[in-house]
Amino acid sequence: MKARGQKIAALTAYDYPMAKLLDESGVPFLLVGDSVGMVVLGYPNTTLVTMADMLHHTRAAARAKPQAVLGADLPFKSYDTVDTALANARQLVAAGAEFVKAEGGHEILPQVKAIIESGIPFCGHLGMLPQHVLEEGGYHIKGKKEAEHQALLEDAKALAQAGVFAIVLELVTPPVANEISQSVSVPTIGIGSGPDCDGQILVTHDLTGNFPWFTPRFVKPRANCAGEIKSAVAAWKSSVET
Ligand code: KIV
Repeated sequence: MKARGQKIAALTAYDYPMAKLLDESGVPFLLVGDSVGMVVLGYPNTTLVTMADMLHHTRAAARAKPQAVLGADLPFKSYDTVDTALANARQLVAAGAEFVKAEGGHEILPQVKAIIESGIPFCGHLGMLPQHVLEEGGYHIKGKKEAEHQALLEDAKALAQAGVFAIVLELVTPPVANEISQSVSVPTIGIGSGPDCDGQILVTHDLTGNFPWFTPRFVKPRANCAGEIKSAVAAWKSSVET
């Protein structure tokens, strides 16, 4: 798609009906993101997501047998060493993932290479890394400082060289996201990183208004599912009570 200049629409799916609906809508790239922890499981951030959570949701989404490529996140602490990264990536594949994604650049290159060498396609994730939110004290835009800009560019090139098939760029300043997209042959999938990435990914719950208590600034919800659910329930409740 990148070679054809065709932009890639990607979304998260954590269960059977959502994977099926997104697939029927023609979305070619689905991710069982560890964002499931925040928008489905009620955790305050993604550092509490476990392999058991990811396996459960990956199996559910995979039962939809989507035409779309379906991948899953390696959760926090599940890829600290090459051996654990490989073992956990294999478990996600056994659960139905066709690729795995993990956060980081040069610091996880040995794990990335081992996963790819074992035959499992890998998607990189650079920029703001939600699994590092506690050390970083929040979700900060990346690439403003020159050192950060250069480090992102080097990490993207190193991941591409290692054989990743795509790289998510999260909260990267748009000019830097653009430069990275021009500098690597694999597609970049942006989230809050401007229009010049090769694709865009969103947390589906943000797009559809299913999680109304927090919506990232860069998301324009296209539906108000929470509102629809509340009015349907209120109408039904009132019909029961009267
Ligand atoms: O966890 C997630 O959903 C993600 C995407 C939003 C990129 O990593």
